[in-house]
Amino acid sequence: MKNIVILISGSGSNMAAIARTAQKERWHDKLGVRVAAVISNKAEAKGLALAKEFGIATDVLSHRDFESREAFDAALMARIEAHAPQLVVLAGFMRILTPGFVGHYAGRLINIHPSLLPAFTGLHTHQRAIDMGCRLAGTTVHQVTAELDHGDILAQAAVPVLPFDTADTLAARVLTQEHLIYPQAVRSFFEAKASSA
Ligand code: GAR
Repeated sequence: MKNIVILISGSGSNMAAIARTAQKERWHDKLGVRVAAVISNKAEAKGLALAKEFGIATDVLSHRDFESREAFDAALMARIEAHAPQLVVLAGFMRILTPGFVGHYAGRLINIHPSLLPAFTGLHTHQRAIDMGCRLAGTTVHQVTAELDHGDILAQAAVPVLPFDTADTLAARVLTQEHLIYPQAVRSFFEAKASSA
């Protein structure tokens, strides 16, 4: 069985979209793939309850319990390694990861970012797109590298920015696209692996 570990910090809707698609498309039977665990750095993350509804093992590791980024990432890595994952998926995981962590998972660590990268790395992407007068916004699934929100692009979707958009209305429009492209990108990752094996 090929395991996926998903890291979250908040509502976990992208995690749920992946778990739902995995069920619907029977990844377990067809690809030998399952979401083995969801790990949050926040105990109050709403996504933890969602993960439990899918019957997925959950774990919490608070970054506040560690004195340095390196110490947190080392402990996080140990929790992840307990599931020996083929793929680690960041889904609204709002922590910058150390080069050591990123290097360990090189080629099997992916993220979804709410902008059309390389535009708008970092935070507040929707407000920045509105402020710049962008006509299009969107989302990007990419490989994670040591440089924040860089790394090869695996999937993208664009949505229009409408005249009366706020950051919230734009975020909601982008999120519906994220729920489509992220599960597809995860499936493609395993299909590409299977065809190159
Ligand atoms: C998503 O829109 C994702 O693109 C964004 O956080 C949201 C998480 O939603 N990620 C980042 O901003 C990463 N820098 P979710 O918890 O409902 O999946």
